[in-house]
Amino acid sequence: MKSNQTGGSPAQYELEALSEQETAAFAEAMAKLAFPGSVLAVDGDLGAGKTHFAKAFAAALGVQDIVNSPTYTLIKEYEGAELPFYHMDVYRLSLEEADELGLDEYFHGNGVTLVEWASLIEPILPSERLHLRLETTGAESRRMVCSPIGSQYEAWCIALGLKPVKGEEQSG
Ligand SMILES: Nc1ncnc2c1ncn2[C@@H]1O[C@H](COP(=O)(O)OP(=O)(O)O)[C@@H](O)[C@H]1O
Ligand SMILES: [Mg+2]
Repeated sequence: MKSNQTGGSPAQYELEALSEQETAAFAEAMAKLAFPGSVLAVDGDLGAGKTHFAKAFAAALGVQDIVNSPTYTLIKEYEGAELPFYHMDVYRLSLEEADELGLDEYFHGNGVTLVEWASLIEPILPSERLHLRLETTGAESRRMVCSPIGSQYEAWCIALGLKPVKGEEQSG
């Protein structure tokens, strides 16, 4: 029995990037679809490319500043061409701390938020978001799995031309 399905199975989509340039190109294409309040929940092991993705994503939003890993600062705010960009790394945060920091104000603001290690704070993520999981498949290659929650993010995956993942968990 599955508990998380209210209306149809949440689809997953995937893409293989064979170089860091391909990862950046994917991030740029995704940034073009961003709207006020967009939330990207990114996961993946250390070195998978979360920050690399975030830098290209920020650049495509028109952020001029240098985007560095926010591991120690937890959250950094940038000015994009049209939308603010909020870059978080919640690796060192407990759920309680994340809650106390008022991260949800960012999620519900007008900017675009990208959270590294987002699954650590899953309970306080907004109800609609795009999950992106990066998996290292080789020195230069990464598998990227997108799980959209909400129709706007489902539309992103389709606009990006991503390939649906053949469902291991889905029986039908
Ligand atoms: N296809 C790829 N996509 C993203 N990063 C890649 C890729 N191939 C190699 N890399 C390298 O992997 C490293 C990823 O580091 P980083 O983005 O800081 O990871 P994370 O934030 O997930 O810990 C960088 O040194 C980057 O140059
Ligand atoms: Mg990082």
